[in-house]
Amino acid sequence: MKELRTIIITGANSGLGFETAKKIAADHQYRLVLACRDLQKANTAKEEIVKISGNTNIECLQIDTSSLKSVEEFVEEFSKNHDSLYGLINNAGISGMHSGKSIDGVEIVMATNYLGHWYLTNLLLEKYHVKKIFNITSDMHNPPQGLKWRPVKDIFYSDNSDRTAYPYSKLSFIYFSKELQERLDKEGKGTLVNSFNPGMMQTNFAGGPMPKARVNFVKTMMPERFGDLDKSSTALATLMMDDSLNIKAQYFDRSVNYKNSSPLSYEIKNQKELWDYTAEFIKEWRKNK
Ligand SMILES: NC(=O)c1ccc[n+]([C@@H]2O[C@H](COP(=O)([O-])OP(=O)(O)OC[C@H]3O[C@@H](n4cnc5c(N)ncnc54)[C@H](OP(=O)(O)O)[C@@H]3O)[C@@H](O)[C@H]2O)c1
Repeated sequence: MKELRTIIITGANSGLGFETAKKIAADHQYRLVLACRDLQKANTAKEEIVKISGNTNIECLQIDTSSLKSVEEFVEEFSKNHDSLYGLINNAGISGMHSGKSIDGVEIVMATNYLGHWYLTNLLLEKYHVKKIFNITSDMHNPPQGLKWRPVKDIFYSDNSDRTAYPYSKLSFIYFSKELQERLDKEGKGTLVNSFNPGMMQTNFAGGPMPKARVNFVKTMMPERFGDLDKSSTALATLMMDDSLNIKAQYFDRSVNYKNSSPLSYEIKNQKELWDYTAEFIKEWRKNK
């Protein structure tokens, strides 16, 4: 009998994470860990996934990606019961309408969408030989109004009054994917790290379903930004499960096809600066915890 492949999906109780989990669970070769901040919601999602897929290898584990301590606890719990990890989908996220600081003092959107996942990924990679990692980004890494890179410290500690935290968090995820890939390649790990943009979808992301008129507006006026939840989750599940996929450090756009991300996302200097700052931040946090 083939060994089951374990996949962790953060934020798997809703939207893209949930739909992707359902599609992967349909193949009983996969075991899923629903990494969610609310275990009650996670258990409800689990029940539905088991019912639809008949796959009983679905597990719920608590994580708050905005808290580095919670990320550590998650990895500790996960590693108690798992010898291997095949895939990781860093999907949990909040919109740029949030403001405030994380428990670790970082701007909350950046902490939730980027920093917690950076730490989660690196902690897991210390313990497991992961085959595939997908970081869920957004075409808003390149917002219509444009985006200029700032010193990372300013991004980490902004008050988000200019509503740039979300674009920065998603641009950071693209830099992270590429830098991580480079580092893993140097170690000869064979891990494939990619970014995935699902497009603007009907999920709980904006606090509930978008009004129909807005959906139609986006669909007709901004087709390049419109995302279909079913199509995007199918593409993401396919990319995760397709053994012939050998693509890395790319930006998949709402499908199994990749394209160029924004010109800014290819600035290697920013990519390196972000990695170094983040690594140093985590080091300091660990020293002082
Ligand atoms: N919807 C869009 O238009 C759109 C467009 C581009 C990219 N995306 C990206 O797609 C990803 C999934 O979003 P979605 O559209 O599926 O939205 P969603 O339905 O709101 O799902 C987001 C998930 O993230 C979880 N989450 C939020 N903060 C968390 C935290 N601190 N710790 C752990 N989990 C947390 C949520 O948990 P709760 O249920 O407990 O809140 C939920 O499970 C996000 O990364 C988002 O940036 C979305």
